[in-house]
Amino acid sequence: MRKIVIAIDGYSSCGKSTTAKAVAAELGYAYIDTGAMYRAVTLYLLEHNISFDDLPRIEQALHDMHISFKRNRKTGRNELCLDGEIREDEIRQMRISNSVSEVSVIPAVRHALVRQQQRMGRKRGVVMDGRDIGTTVFPDAEVKVFMTADVLTRAERRQEELALKDEHVPVDEIVENLRKRDHIDSTRAESPLRRASDAVLLDTTHMMIDEQVDFVLERVSAKL
Ligand code: C5P
Repeated sequence: MRKIVIAIDGYSSCGKSTTAKAVAAELGYAYIDTGAMYRAVTLYLLEHNISFDDLPRIEQALHDMHISFKRNRKTGRNELCLDGEIREDEIRQMRISNSVSEVSVIPAVRHALVRQQQRMGRKRGVVMDGRDIGTTVFPDAEVKVFMTADVLTRAERRQEELALKDEHVPVDEIVENLRKRDHIDSTRAESPLRRASDAVLLDTTHMMIDEQVDFVLERVSAKL
């Protein structure tokens, strides 16, 4: 059966990664969480005290750092590795969420990560989630979904995820972070977050995960 690229873009915390992971598992495809890659660059810059406007040091850092994914045999999940070390928990913390959109506006960062993402998906058979997959990384993706949901619903889901990792954050703070990220992501000059003209819109406010997964799988079967 031919292998395709499935691009899942949209606003922060709409359930993109949960849906993408389940779709990938169902099809036996690779799942690539591109947000994790922007988060990893942010973690690296913060840990190396590199200011977000110090372009020469950022370019050097992009050259030096190594971002990859490693499959966790117990959970079956792909975990983000920075320089060979699993950093999945750190990249999800609020301190990274609060800075990641400032890092992802930097063109040099976008160019490096987009190139790597295109390499990772060159054999197709991937589900990739992010903000610019259907517009920039794989404009020729066979299936494109653009996800959205009410901001309070998104914040409550995010709050639950953080609480499971023992990070207790008031819902107002999360709403503010989501609004700020959505604004920066949608208004940046370089590959802003926007729905590709051929992407199908999916509002997950009142949907269960299973329904979201079925929605995407139906679009996939129409293409295979
Ligand atoms: O998907 P997640 O919320 O983890 O993404 C974190 C941030 O990374 C986004 O708010 C956005 O600034 C950036 N991002 C991006 N392009 C992508 C994926 C994520 O700019 N393809």
